[in-house]
Amino acid sequence: MTNAQKWVAAFLGLFLILFLLGRLTMKEESSTPPMMMGQMANQQAQVSEDADGPTLVKQIGCISCHGDNLQGTNIGPALANIKEHWTRDALINYLRNPSAYSGDARFQQYREQFKNVVMPSFNNMDVKQLGKIAEYLLTR
Ligand code: HEC
Repeated sequence: MTNAQKWVAAFLGLFLILFLLGRLTMKEESSTPPMMMGQMANQQAQVSEDADGPTLVKQIGCISCHGDNLQGTNIGPALANIKEHWTRDALINYLRNPSAYSGDARFQQYREQFKNVVMPSFNNMDVKQLGKIAEYLLTR
């Protein structure tokens, strides 16, 4: 072998090693997820496709701030008389972007009452599911 050929062989060998290492680390990555898959399964269990309004409100955790029966807690207002204040569409919009409504007098009072709690925005949720929640809240 000439010197040049030796260099070429050395480089090819190096590339091969790097390539194999790359494959190995990729395998490692794809073998870590059991935990992540568990979380994903969990999330799916939390929000099942065909859940109705009351179920969604429980599964998503609205009740942790608004109370088991949406009667209100010290970290969230009661969700009563919703139909006096909201239409279905407005309510869906609200759930997707609560801060847009913070100017209303009712919300100014909530800000006083629930100082360090922010109503989360559910803008990554399926609109159909938000619709079910809105319908449920409006018929209570
Ligand atoms: C982290 C606590 C928390 C969670 C979780 C939460 N909220 Fe709220 N929610 C609040 C607070 C606090 C307010 C008062 C308004 C504000 O601070 O923006 C509020 C306000 C509201 C209002 C307006 C009430 C009115 O008088 O018009 C509705 C409707 C509402 N929440 C529905 C929901 C629904 C539905 C869910 C679940 C999808 C949910 N919230 C989850 C804390 C929460």
